[in-house]
Amino acid sequence: MDRILIEGPNRLIGEVAIRGAKNAVLPLMAASLLVDGWMTITNVPRLRDIDTFNTLLMHLGADVETDYDGGVLRIRTPQLKSDEAPYDMVRTMRASVLALGPLVARFKRARVSLPGGCAIGARPIDLHIMALKKMGAEVSVEHGFVNVKAERLVGASIRFDTVTVTGTENVMLAAVHAEGTTVIGNAALEPEVVCLADTLIKMGARIKGAGTDTITIEGVNALKAVEVEVIPDRIEAGTFMVASAMTRGNVLIKNCPYKFLDALIVKLKETGTEIRQEKDGVRVIGDIPIRSVDVKTMPYPGFPTDMQAQMMSMMATAGGLSVITETVFENRFMHVSELRRMGADITIDGRTAVVRGVRALSAAPLMATDLRASASLILAGLAAHGTTEVSRIYHLDRGYERIEAKLLGLGAKIKRVKA
Ligand code: UD1
Repeated sequence: MDRILIEGPNRLIGEVAIRGAKNAVLPLMAASLLVDGWMTITNVPRLRDIDTFNTLLMHLGADVETDYDGGVLRIRTPQLKSDEAPYDMVRTMRASVLALGPLVARFKRARVSLPGGCAIGARPIDLHIMALKKMGAEVSVEHGFVNVKAERLVGASIRFDTVTVTGTENVMLAAVHAEGTTVIGNAALEPEVVCLADTLIKMGARIKGAGTDTITIEGVNALKAVEVEVIPDRIEAGTFMVASAMTRGNVLIKNCPYKFLDALIVKLKETGTEIRQEKDGVRVIGDIPIRSVDVKTMPYPGFPTDMQAQMMSMMATAGGLSVITETVFENRFMHVSELRRMGADITIDGRTAVVRGVRALSAAPLMATDLRASASLILAGLAAHGTTEVSRIYHLDRGYERIEAKLLGLGAKIKRVKA
């Protein structure tokens, strides 16, 4: 297994460009199942999760053409070869569940493996199932699979009791072909949901309210394939912002989705970080000592759970006491035990972590446990004294394109050691 070695501490200085958002590409790829023509998706990053979804689409019967250098993905699904999203694919990437909505909408049936336990909590799909049932689908769970059948889906009023991003996306993907009007209450407001809605509208769907907590979808008979550009990745951008802030860096982040990063920017400014919009991007200048801040993750537009681990690394090196509360997932503190091995002073009580900044971390061998936790360990390694070795970095490759090359370009002493 590949490992990453980082020699710290090191100031990051220079420019970095942000690529398209993984969490926006995946639902667009799912949307391609709705039509038989070629969908063209541009600004696509090279990531393992996207490869996994490609494999799933090809398994279902899609033709896929990739030009990763150009960031272009072309997909068409003239017919269905299989209606099943197998366990191996859903297990490695929970977002495979996004195939459910479009498969039922177009082919009237789908069989998706239950995702099972996940490193960051139980992550059930009960809300996806509840919504499809309300739309008239017959749902049964057998042998670890959810089987969904619907001769015709009908519009329904669906209210989520928990805000769910892929749940909201799945209902939109299913409802575009339903008979009548579907209303989603307590819908997710994430920019990636809006990106999917805009694309579906371009394809001919009738959708109103995306970006608010009530989304209305009026079913239509036919949709057409289109070309669409993916929005920039706010989590990749946020990760580089924190990297610059915690290394006393001076980094210009190009193609930075500033408007999607409000909650993070407010917090970073409170730490003493200077953030300013320039003609070519967003400049982030770190300062020492880092002031401790409290953070509570929330659905968008709140502080993103996908930035919690990175922020915790920064707080581990800050000058005071920080309380970090994770409200979105019940078990998303796996990075804590690794950070402690670097000398961080963190105690956990349920969903709350109390971080007493120790100013300087010391390098240690570390193990990545999930995607964003991996990023937090890389950041800690940049700030720590000595050589940090992060193993199991395949998690990192799921969601960050060439992160070590980008950090190297900013002056980090970092290298990947091939297995
Ligand atoms: C998406 C993102 C992920 C991000 C998360 C929260 C993608 C591909 N992934 O994941 O990066 O961390 O949003 O911002 O976009 N829940 C249920 N029942 C369900 C569905 C969800 O109880 O049927 C719960 C989850 O366990 C969790 C909460 O709802 O506690 C939010 O999860 P959700 O928004 O669905 O996360 P994902 O869409 O999987």
